Amino acid sequence: MLIHKAFTLTDINNTAGKFYIETYGCQMNFSDSEVVASILSDNGYTLTRSIDEADIILVNTCSIRENAETRVWGRLDVYRLQKKEKPSVLIGVLGCMAERLKEKLLSKEKLVDIVVGPDAYRDLPTLLQSAKEGQEGINVLLSREETYADINPVRLDKNGVSAFVSIMRGCNNMCTYCVVPYVRGAERSRDPETIIREVKELINNGYKEVTLLGQNVDSYNWVNGENKKVGFAELLEMVAKVDHNIRVRFSTSHPKDLSDDVLYTMAMYENICDHIHLPVQSGSSRVLDLMNRGYSREYYMGRIEAIRRILPSSTISTDMITGFCAETEEDHEQTLSLMEWVGYDFAYMFKYSERPNTKAARRMQDDVPEDVKARRLTEIIELQNKLSEESKKKDIGKRFKVLVEGVSKKSDEQFYGRTSQNKVVVFPKEDSKIGDYVFVKVHESTQATLIGTISKS
Ligand code: 5AD
Ligand code: SF4
Repeated sequence: MLIHKAFTLTDINNTAGKFYIETYGCQMNFSDSEVVASILSDNGYTLTRSIDEADIILVNTCSIRENAETRVWGRLDVYRLQKKEKPSVLIGVLGCMAERLKEKLLSKEKLVDIVVGPDAYRDLPTLLQSAKEGQEGINVLLSREETYADINPVRLDKNGVSAFVSIMRGCNNMCTYCVVPYVRGAERSRDPETIIREVKELINNGYKEVTLLGQNVDSYNWVNGENKKVGFAELLEMVAKVDHNIRVRFSTSHPKDLSDDVLYTMAMYENICDHIHLPVQSGSSRVLDLMNRGYSREYYMGRIEAIRRILPSSTISTDMITGFCAETEEDHEQTLSLMEWVGYDFAYMFKYSERPNTKAARRMQDDVPEDVKARRLTEIIELQNKLSEESKKKDIGKRFKVLVEGVSKKSDEQFYGRTSQNKVVVFPKEDSKIGDYVFVKVHESTQATLIGTISKS
């Protein structure tokens, strides 16, 4: 049988050009950049880590808060200088800001050549070709099906030990403050077979840890041809069973959907890490209702109790928004008291930032003054610093299984790694290697890390 191969210009030139990609925002966006790198590599483009060498500069963007967008506008100014020196350079804006701002990006002094939303990355080679020919390249269509299931991402984060695997896209929750459903579209789950295939491929390439990613992993739901359903607990088990030596993490859980099944699955497999990121956003039921989170303070506390019961050694982290519309001092006090009650090990904390077109922007008043938001944020950060410190102090004297991830920034003689509970530990290398599991006894802690030594018995 004759196999036909279409020779393209790229086969002759070897490369269609060098692309440089910078990523902002959540882990999902980092994972998407790896999909983009894969699509472009398959189409004859080569990745460069030097912006000066690039023929194409891509920026994968975030819209979650105003300051995320401001940062990208700042970067676009830098690329503008790059383009002045080398006018043939093409600049592309990808991701959530591309989706939100669309033509506005193209019209702004013709700075940007292509604009591509999160569901349109397969179209990138075509769009780049049009841009090379001087036409505008835009595709911001959202899809109900796209999961990039068949694409094998090019790993950009080169520690070679841990990798992200996207299991679903989009979001169906309509939190009133959130831009995500508008920029990432409806929720869809990825075929579990392709997820397992990707995990196996990572293991073959020496990876030791996978983090399953989705906006709301607990609502993962795949129905195959025979109407057989795979939910998140089943998927987690399938991934954990691929290799008991590989750590499995996941992010992000939603309190209203986190099931006991998931907790029991975590308890059953030693290699599913003992850490749950469970964003609460506020400690006040009244504010949670305004946010349309779908649970109350009491319901959330019930979920924490279930975690404590089923997974006693699990750590818990959260996201918190302060100064949401109509938040009173009493609501804020409830946030502080919930934080204290849970004793979070870690938290990401934000001032509420109104996002255009969200329900909160359309129907509610962003009425908490900036100085009050700032003061409340300082208060929750100070409390969390205390809680994080307490959480680390509890580990002093204990011995943990640690996956060695890399050389410590502070000393070449030391490695850093993480415990199952997701705490960073720094320790002298001795005879360990990156990618090994070692047991480390913790002697002290700083604000961000645990410090210990390898303990063989
Ligand atoms: N303002 C401030 N923080 C926000 N987040 C999402 N939308 C906003 C907003 N408009 C936070 C939430 C979410 C995290 C990823 O970002 O805490 O969990
Ligand atoms: Fe930012 Fe949300 Fe988009 Fe992630 S999904 S890049 S957090 S706007």
